[in-house]
Amino acid sequence: MRIFSGIQPTGAKHLGNYIGAIRRYVTSQREGEALYCIVDLHALTVAYDPVQLRRSVYDLAALLLAAGLDPERCVLFRQSDVAEHTELTWLLSSVTAFGDLQRMHQFKEKSAAQRELVSAGLFLYPVLMAADVLAYRATDVPVGDDQRQHVELMRDIAIRFNQRFGGGAPVLAVPEHRIPEVGARIMDLQDPSRKMSTTGGSQEGTIYVLEGREAIERKLKRAVTDSGTEIVRSPQKAGVSNLIEILAAARQISPEQVEERMASARGYGELKAAVSEAVVEMLAPVQQRYGALRGEEAELERVLGSGAAKARLIARETLAEVREVMGVGPRTVAGTHSHQARSLT
Ligand code: AMP
Ligand code: TRP
Repeated sequence: MRIFSGIQPTGAKHLGNYIGAIRRYVTSQREGEALYCIVDLHALTVAYDPVQLRRSVYDLAALLLAAGLDPERCVLFRQSDVAEHTELTWLLSSVTAFGDLQRMHQFKEKSAAQRELVSAGLFLYPVLMAADVLAYRATDVPVGDDQRQHVELMRDIAIRFNQRFGGGAPVLAVPEHRIPEVGARIMDLQDPSRKMSTTGGSQEGTIYVLEGREAIERKLKRAVTDSGTEIVRSPQKAGVSNLIEILAAARQISPEQVEERMASARGYGELKAAVSEAVVEMLAPVQQRYGALRGEEAELERVLGSGAAKARLIARETLAEVREVMGVGPRTVAGTHSHQARSLT
């Protein structure tokens, strides 16, 4: 099993990112070879500030390390350090259907939200994402629910590539998404019909990973619920369902267990207090480690650099084979399907 996931260095990371992705990266790094990529090139597809982007990469690297990523156990790197991602994007674009890209929910949403320019980069975003994963022949992609369609597209791209160029032996691995049952879609506390998000959500409805106890308690206290008192999940009770899910994820128990434990609670106030406590406890250790790590930019750069060196070795091999079978560049001497996946160790 080889695990790959990417995360954008944009804005402050929130509870949805933590539960849906970051915390799972930490557990996955013990289950197989794992590569985690800070996808700065994806961040160029909408309006951004170059100075802030560079800073955000360090913010995110420090956050991921604070959350428990261990550079001895996983490969943590910056996307733009491995040029193979961009080269593979172009090569894969020839086996990507234009119509499929037009159907991507995220493209539709983000292009509608752009005030000035809808960039071609935004349109090609899913192809770069496919290249991220396929360059490593990764098998498992831990993501939140909002990335489901993108992972399905990268599977289609890999399958089409293999059919067109594989000559019987698959060149690219067809990856599977790993979307968790609980916490794959944390909703905005103020508007539980929308996912918690840095760009689309409300400030008061979003809990940030680095937020203090007071703000967390306040936001949860004000979380939108309904006029009832029953603490159960149901489509009519989106706010309460979301709180149950957050509590389950934070305590690492099932939503059913939360409902059982809360059966004797006197109302939503008690549920909200329990969620606050669990979220504060979950985030506290990350917050404690973050400061010291963020201060050491040279060290962060060293970690990212050594991750990129390891990543490049794998990506380079895949690219050599992709070029070979696509008829790009001179014929290589080997010219064979020698893709014995290179190991990280
Ligand atoms: P991004 O910050 O957009 O790069 O997202 C990083 C990861 O967080 C991706 O795997 C997303 O699927 C996941 N994610 C984003 N928002 C949420 C959310 N509200 N609930 C659960 N997971 C999320
Ligand atoms: N598009 C993903 C997101 O917004 C980030 C991402 C980029 C990614 N490349 C990836 C996720 C590769 C998984 C695998 O969350």
